[in-house]
Parts: sequence; C-alpha cells; structure tokens
Amino acid sequence: MMKNIIPENFLWGGAIAANQCEGAYLEDGKGMSPVDILPGGALRKEALADAKKAMEKEYGYYPSHVSIDFYHRYKGDIKLFKEMGFKCLRTSISWARIFPNGDDQAPNEEGLKFYDSLIDELIANDIEPVITINHFDTPLELTKKYGGWKNRKLIDFYLNYCNVIFNRYKGKVKYWMTFNEINMILHIPSFGGGLIFEEGENINQIKYQGAHHQLVASALATKLGHEIDPENKIGCMLAAGQIYPYTCNPEDILEAQARNRDNYFFIDVQARGKYPSYANRMFEEMGFNIEITEEEKKILAENTVDYVAFSYYSSRLRSADPVVMSQKLTGNAFKSLPNPYLKQSEWGWTIDPVGLRITMNELYDRYQKPLFIVENGLGAVDKVEEDGSINDDYRIEYLRKHIEQMKEGIKDGVELIGYTPWGCIDLVSASTGEMSKRYGFIYVDKDDNGNGTLERTKKKSFDWYKKVISTNGENLE
Ligand code: BG6
Repeated sequence: MMKNIIPENFLWGGAIAANQCEGAYLEDGKGMSPVDILPGGALRKEALADAKKAMEKEYGYYPSHVSIDFYHRYKGDIKLFKEMGFKCLRTSISWARIFPNGDDQAPNEEGLKFYDSLIDELIANDIEPVITINHFDTPLELTKKYGGWKNRKLIDFYLNYCNVIFNRYKGKVKYWMTFNEINMILHIPSFGGGLIFEEGENINQIKYQGAHHQLVASALATKLGHEIDPENKIGCMLAAGQIYPYTCNPEDILEAQARNRDNYFFIDVQARGKYPSYANRMFEEMGFNIEITEEEKKILAENTVDYVAFSYYSSRLRSADPVVMSQKLTGNAFKSLPNPYLKQSEWGWTIDPVGLRITMNELYDRYQKPLFIVENGLGAVDKVEEDGSINDDYRIEYLRKHIEQMKEGIKDGVELIGYTPWGCIDLVSASTGEMSKRYGFIYVDKDDNGNGTLERTKKKSFDWYKKVISTNGENLE
C-alpha cells in the first residue's frame, strides 16, 4: 500500500474567531470591538465601508453581541470538537477583553481568566490551541482616539498586549498568528486596520502607512514571542486565492500579476524581511511614499515569520479591460469576474478546489516556509429536516474536493502544517453578519434576526469529517 502522504503529526482541526462566536460583548470588563457596532443584513456593507458613520448610527440589532455565545458554551463545543477528533482549534483572543481601551496600563484580569479556562480546556482535551492575536479585532477605542493603525502608537499598545498573552500562555500556546488576513486592510480597512478616514486624507496612503505599522508590530511581536519562549512558532496570515488572468492577452496577465502582488506584498515583507522590489514603483505611481525608518527596516529584516498561514475560499479572475471588469461578481471583498469553468456558491464565491493546489504551490515557491491552511469552507444555507437532521452533502463535497487538492499540493512538495476549515461550528458571517451563511459541522439554532435556542446539532458533515481525521485524510468518502 502506498504510504499516506499526510504527515502523522498533521494538525487537523477547525477555525473560529472571538469576534464572530464569543458574544458576551461587554461582559467581564470587555471593551467594544469593531464588530460590535455592525448590523447584519443590507446595512452591513455601508457600516463596514465607513466605521465613522457606523459609530454614530443606531442599528438596533447587532449579531455579535450574543453571537453563538461561545463565551459561555465553549466547554460543550470543545466536547464536540474532541468527538470529531480535532488535533487543534484555531481561535483568536479579543484584544478588547484584555485591554478594553487598547491603551490601558494594566490588563483586565477577568478577560484573561476567560482565556485561561478556554486554553486549559483545549489542552485537557488534547486539542492544540492555535491563536490569532488580532482577528479583525483592534479595540474600537483605539479607532476613536487614535484613528486606528494609521497612528504609530498602536505598535506599542499591540506589543503590550502581546507581552501579556505570550507570558500568560507560555508553554501552553505554541502556534500564534500576528494578524488575521493582513492584506484585508486594503479591502476592508475598518476591520483590518480599525481605520477611519478624515476629509481630504489620501485613503491609499493611510492604508499603506497603517499596514506598515502592522508589519513592524508583527515583526516586533515575532521577536518578543521568540524571546519569551523559543518554542513559539509565530506566523503571518494571508487572505489568499490566486488571481487568474481573464485571457492570454499579456495585458490581462500583467493585471493578474499586479493584483496578486497587491496581496503578496504583505507576506513578502513578513516572510522575506523587506519590502519587495516592486514597492517603489507602486508607491511612485500611487503618488505618495510611506514613512519607514532605518531602524524599522532592520526590525523587519531580523524578524521574519516561522510559517505562512492562509485562508482559501476561491480563486479570482481579473481583466485589464475596465468594460469587461464591470461584469464583476459581487458579494466578495475581492473584485472578480465569474469564471466560465467554475460554479459559484450561493453568495457568489467561486468554487475552485484546484485553485487551492495552485495557491499552495505559489506560496511555497515564493516563500519556502511551512504553510498552514487556517481557513477554507463553504458558506451555505442549511435546511433542518423534520426529524432534525441536516444533510449538508454540498459541504462534504466542497471540503472533499479541497482536501483532495491539498493532498496533491503536499505531493508536489509543499510543506503543510495543518488544515482548519473555517467556522467548524456555525458562527456570524464577517462580511454579511448573517447566521444563515453557515460553514459548520455543527449547526447552531439561531437566525439572522437573533431568534433561536442556540442549541447545537451535528450535521451530516460532522461524522464525515470525524472519519477524515481518524484516517488522517485517507478516507474522504
Ligand atoms: C475570512 C475571515 O475572510 O473569511 C473570517 O478571516 C470570515 O473572519 C471568513 O468569516 C468567511 O467570510 P464570511 O464573510 O463568509 O464570514
């Protein structure tokens, strides 16, 4: 028999994030997070696009305030993760639970106690905690007071926070990620960078300056994390998904390359330790420069990440022709044309399992660092049958095809640490605020208006994924 291609210690698991599952939004001293001022449904888009407006407006119902109440129900949920055989759980720490205003002198002990219990519960169940330090979760007070990451001071506040959690969870947490989808600062700056813009400000300049502060903060956190515990593995995290050219017209090829670089730009710095060679021309053509000191260049160079984590949901398609691009798909933070060879999800996200293999190979060729797939999955409407069962064959199909391609990627020679499908338990969608955009193996009884018992039910995919893990990815049927 051929040897299984997936390594024995492979980290099978699932991924969630504090801001989309915990709820308890002001409990035990927590401050406000960016998500706490966002409504669900049609108004979410405008609120995401303009945090300033969202801060002033009263929307009534806020999905994150209770969310799936993971804050109080995590023990039961971890039991279910354990039953599926999870080797790890990726979740995030909410910065505003630890520093409610972001710039407080001392941490909030009550907030830390929650994560003490959560992490201990995971370890007691032999589930390795994989922690995102900032998953769209810069305390809202830092946005109000400093305008978010455009202000250099956020580097110090972030490091203060890192210092507390690295020390507190030393020996318990080994895998860390500094920023979720760091390139998201370009696409949803309020989420990615807690950014607000003032009249007359150059938006692109603010985004890139904010990104630079995050890159320096990430490098300094990597340094600090290694100093506090040399066993720590500190990674970056990219919203990935290869961008294909629409045609073989060289103009389209060039366009796709440039748009890929928009995203790789951040990881180029975090993995290689310096701004890429194309950055100069890019800034020149955008008509500004960002402030980078010699000292910062040194920090970036000396503190590259240990691994490259990424989310993968779909590939994208771009044309250099604006007329063609006007037929773009909606429903995605990234502009993309519909790919005639591929189908889309109910939310218009292109489904492309082979694209995962392509993306893995691109990233590995480029960085030569271990990769970690920390998000992948299908957001879909689930139907609860009369007998209570949920037959999510479409989700099984999506994941099966992606795992098949993931294995092909490993065969190609890519070094892969693990695979944690997104929203392993249903949670609130980041882009739409809906509960009905479900990703989980575990169904949560709650609707888009906040009605429901919050009861948890296993879907058909639960047993399927359990089998996948128990056979270390050999049996995908
Ligand atoms: C990623 C984020 O962009 O995609 C998650 O890291 C998010 O926070 C996930 O939930 C899926 O997107 P959505 O909009 O369907 O929730």
